[in-house]
Amino acid sequence: MSTKNFAIPVDKTGWKLQDNSGTVRFTWDYDTQRDRLINLYEKGKRRQWDAKKRIDWSLPMDPNNPVEGLDEMIPIYGSEIWGKMDDKAKGELRLHLAAWQFSQFLHGEQGALICASKIVQNVPDIDSKYYAATQVMDEARHVEAYSMLLDKIGLAYPINYNLRDILDSVLTDSRWDMTYLGMQVLIEGLALAAFGGIRTFSQNELARTVTAYVMQDEARHVSFGRAALKDYYPNLSAKEREEREEFAAEACRMMRDRFLAIEVWETLGLDVEACTKYVTESESQSQFRSFLFMRIVPILRDIGLWGPRLRDAFEKMGVIGFADTDLDAVMAEDEKIADEIDELRRQEVAQIVTLGSSEESS
Ligand SMILES: [Fe+2]
Ligand SMILES: [Fe+2]
Repeated sequence: MSTKNFAIPVDKTGWKLQDNSGTVRFTWDYDTQRDRLINLYEKGKRRQWDAKKRIDWSLPMDPNNPVEGLDEMIPIYGSEIWGKMDDKAKGELRLHLAAWQFSQFLHGEQGALICASKIVQNVPDIDSKYYAATQVMDEARHVEAYSMLLDKIGLAYPINYNLRDILDSVLTDSRWDMTYLGMQVLIEGLALAAFGGIRTFSQNELARTVTAYVMQDEARHVSFGRAALKDYYPNLSAKEREEREEFAAEACRMMRDRFLAIEVWETLGLDVEACTKYVTESESQSQFRSFLFMRIVPILRDIGLWGPRLRDAFEKMGVIGFADTDLDAVMAEDEKIADEIDELRRQEVAQIVTLGSSEESS
């Protein structure tokens, strides 16, 4: 109950908001209670950054190889189709794959923006409303950053229909925890692993920098989802938890089996069936896809969704080994890497200034 000194009982009005969805919640208890969430909120306020200022947008990007990643990571690398491609066709494929991937990040970030604003409305306590409000701003900045990066790439793709389906089911569910589970744990967990691949393997400074900065914020978002759901899920019945596990298992299967960049093969006039078959069956490609689950699996375990059905689904997908990942260490690393990039840039700028002044004086 609120410790505010209300002159008359705070619920005196008996007001219930008549919204169409029935999910918008006011709280009259303005006392903050959960230190962990409030600390994340304070951190969120302090760590806002400006994509226009923090990132050097003059950094170059090669249209034939925007990400400058490893060709081995291209889904059809090693296939007959790849073998027949000349340099021009390979360059075009790299461009389209980068545009496709960053477009999905862009649309996913908009999904996160909308989900975070929904959480502000429907989460019952003030701590979570405060925190989610900082996330709304974070996600808006991520949309802006990826939008600018796509302008730099010069090509974009519409939302992938599997991402659309997952967003659709997350956003039409009125239970607040489903928004967290779908967005903060599943979609963001998968995105974080994909971002991690770019941050590690990309040689393009602009792509790496944008990704490292976004990851720094995402580490906070996932911590929030974890903290909120960890408090909530033990209070649910076994049946209710099972329902969540079922949803998570299905979403994971869908993300693994159906995010196959089919739109790219179609657009480039490649043999869609042959490409899809290769990507689905290739051992190295299925290993790359498994890595996408390295964040999701330990988080689900951590929040208490770890029943036999979900464990069985992960066994079958070959990703159960990620359950022991030290999440706190991985997240701390995400925060550190972005700070290191900032430090490097500071040193570079300082060097340029020193060079400039020594040239002036000579
Ligand atoms: Fe984001
Ligand atoms: Fe996020």
